[in-house]
Amino acid sequence: MCGIVGYIGNKKASSILIQGLQRLEYRGYDSAGIATIEKNSIKIMKDKGRVNNLYNLEGIDNLEGTIGIAHTRWATHGKPSKDNAHPHYDNDNMFAVVHNGIIENYNELRSELIEKGYHFVSQTDTEVIPNLINYYYKQDKTKDDNKVLKAVKNACMDLIGSFAIEVISSESPENMIVVRKDSPLVIGKGYKENYIASDIPAILSYTKDFYFLNDYEFALLSRDKIKFYDTNLVEIDKPTKSIEWDSKGAEKDGYEHFMLKEIYEQPIAIRETIGTRLSNGKVIFDELDFSKEYLQSLNKIFIVACGTAMHAGIVSKTIFERLCKIPVEVEIASEFRYRDPLIDEKTLAIYISQSGETADTIAALKLAKSKGAKTLAISNVIGSSITREADYSIYTHAGPEIAVASTKAYTSQITLLTLLAIYCSEKLERADSDKITKLKEDLLEAPSKVEEVLKNTSQIKKFAKKVHKEKDMFFLGRGIDYAVSLEGSLKLKEISYIHSEGYASGELKHGPIALIDTGVTVISIMTDPKLVEKSISNVQEVITRGAKVLIVTNQDLENKGFELVIKIPEISTEISPLLSIVPLQLFAYYISKEKGLDVDKPRNLAKSVTVE
Ligand code: AGP
Repeated sequence: MCGIVGYIGNKKASSILIQGLQRLEYRGYDSAGIATIEKNSIKIMKDKGRVNNLYNLEGIDNLEGTIGIAHTRWATHGKPSKDNAHPHYDNDNMFAVVHNGIIENYNELRSELIEKGYHFVSQTDTEVIPNLINYYYKQDKTKDDNKVLKAVKNACMDLIGSFAIEVISSESPENMIVVRKDSPLVIGKGYKENYIASDIPAILSYTKDFYFLNDYEFALLSRDKIKFYDTNLVEIDKPTKSIEWDSKGAEKDGYEHFMLKEIYEQPIAIRETIGTRLSNGKVIFDELDFSKEYLQSLNKIFIVACGTAMHAGIVSKTIFERLCKIPVEVEIASEFRYRDPLIDEKTLAIYISQSGETADTIAALKLAKSKGAKTLAISNVIGSSITREADYSIYTHAGPEIAVASTKAYTSQITLLTLLAIYCSEKLERADSDKITKLKEDLLEAPSKVEEVLKNTSQIKKFAKKVHKEKDMFFLGRGIDYAVSLEGSLKLKEISYIHSEGYASGELKHGPIALIDTGVTVISIMTDPKLVEKSISNVQEVITRGAKVLIVTNQDLENKGFELVIKIPEISTEISPLLSIVPLQLFAYYISKEKGLDVDKPRNLAKSVTVE
């Protein structure tokens, strides 16, 4: 989705802005632009295509301004083009605006502005914003110091939808104004300079101190001061939060792609997520105050998320139900929010989001909260929107995840959910203590077992090379392996553009087996000893029909006549996804690489899906 960068300081803004945009490239975009204040007037430079194109624009090197805003656009209203790229001017070139989000009532606002004599040069929803600001600015006959801020605030109050907005103005050339509603934006505090970005990694090399705005909070930035205001323009206090992430986390560090680096970072991400939460045999969550009585009162747990995060939820359903004996429903956020689910104060609603900015997940959380459920957010990003909405927040410690295809966030989420299930179950005293002890031991051993899996990549690479031209593939599994098959399939789709399906092995015979024919590739995951024999039967069925089969298993299935068996270490079934997903991530990665695709920034996809 769109990315925003801003700078106000004493350095040349243009280079900081363009570098910031490059760090946001992974979010997905189709055009880019910057605006700086040059001798009290605004200069906008933008174009369709890659951020790098900005370096070729005539005059870009002559920009000397030290205040500026920048944007990568992921087209929603109006095709990718120079006119539709941000920043946008108002009709008098007094204001430049970049915007992330969607203005749902832009058609009405546009008509009203046209009636007032304004004209539009783009098809975007965004262009109404600078013109609305212009309108309110001209209506205000005072000489108020905060006249621009007032105009921005009045304009924003007319907007319906979601927005993160940066504004610079020739009328107030020493300031920048930012505001957000349901769209991400962070403010980085420097020494006599300040930074804005859609997310932390873009400006992590400049500062580790961040401000997080709540909806409808306005920030008025100058070089050495940031003032915050509510919707009545009453000044409010905001604390900074220090982010521990190392800026190296947002660099490739010698790896060819971020995705590969992040796959290899999984042992450390799992270790960090376990951190001090599991020590001396005890699972501790200082952030939570769930009493035994509260947990006993629950009749349902909802786990709600999108994409990979939702797949982590499906994995953890098994462990929650086995250990806590509470029914768990895992739901896609975009469905949950509109289907009027049965929620009350006896429901615990858990929301998982790496970015913490996924629009549907946040909306689904607000819904459960409004119906009296306690809400718990699991995110990788401190201060992200979802964590500010939830009653409780706990964090994975995966470090910045840059590749669009999520890998280390997934395994960290499973790790954290496992710890959470153990924590709840110990309070409830509903599970067998030997079982819990074994799970704790296995969790601590998981990082080194993932390291083992990562040492054994040559066979996967070879198989990926062999099948990279295929058009369809199937991922099969039973029980928890079925949950993994869904994630393996998603990874392949996202970065290799090969159609694939994750299917419950036992369900194959009820339809999809009709698609199995000579040469079709099937990847079967078998880690649950209780279900292995049944899975083998299903694999035999597809082999008989000519399929090429890759098996990922912790059982001794080598030398049993299967084409390729990837052996992974044994571990408790409930947390085996931490290991079994790794060969599947690598498989998708090597296929994408073999096909010469853009592994880290696959077509049409965005890292944070901040609109519905
Ligand atoms: C994962 O590979 C995907 N890019 C996507 O499914 C992602 O997991 C989903 O959009 C949810 O994102 P979130 O965790 O930031 O909420």
